[in-house]
Amino acid sequence: MPSTRSIEVFATAADLFHAAAEEFVRAGRAAIGAQGRFTVALAGGSTPKALYSLLAANYADFAWSRVFLFFGDERHVPPSDSESNYRMVKESLLAKIAIPAENVFRVPAENPDASAAAAEYEVEVRRFFGLWSDQPKEFPRFDLILLGMGPDGHTASLFPDSPALDEQSRLVVANWVAKFNTHRITFTFPVLNHAGEIIFLASGPDKADMLHQVLEGKNTPPLPSQRVQPSDGKLLWMLDEAAAAKLTR
Ligand code: 6PG
Repeated sequence: MPSTRSIEVFATAADLFHAAAEEFVRAGRAAIGAQGRFTVALAGGSTPKALYSLLAANYADFAWSRVFLFFGDERHVPPSDSESNYRMVKESLLAKIAIPAENVFRVPAENPDASAAAAEYEVEVRRFFGLWSDQPKEFPRFDLILLGMGPDGHTASLFPDSPALDEQSRLVVANWVAKFNTHRITFTFPVLNHAGEIIFLASGPDKADMLHQVLEGKNTPPLPSQRVQPSDGKLLWMLDEAAAAKLTR
């Protein structure tokens, strides 16, 4: 499948999240039809929460027993912490749908050793996709990876000028984020760029300047969100008008 990049702009945030829920379910039905399962890496932060709530509200009868959920990144906090991406997903989606607990792969971020947590999660991802440590150049192919974009152009927890940007063999790393004085646990670019489909979700005027830079700017080095280029997959930017306000159209 040749790589494609498309940008879809919706009048309001509500329209954006309805369309994102429909795209999630469309991709899910296609994957389940083709291979009996749908593998997804979820995004954290605040933007996707509305999508997760809509999926729970409007698609409770979806084939959740065939859906396998992972996390593209996690904060280095226990699952009960208000900063936890897992907690956000649990409250907005998991607690409201009939998905088997064994289909949800949480980052063990309560481990005080962030590198150990990342290594443990990598083993779990490799085991699930049948990739063994003696296949260092083999990467999992998620059917769908959901991503957001931060005001500095970061995505997942791949921040500008951070060590994880150049990781080319590991799937999951503990990335030191100096400005937050903490580690984040994140998928690496090879995992992101092996996905069958990537959806970037961005909503609101705060994202407009950076979206213009990321989608239309030339940056040296490229911003992390610009380095998301699936090698054999679909890249879809789903935006609301406020976020897309500075794009040339
Ligand atoms: C996280 C995310 C991160 C997020 C962006 C955008 O754990 O915070 O994975 O990459 O997508 O920071 O965050 P908002 O959606 O809150 O603007």
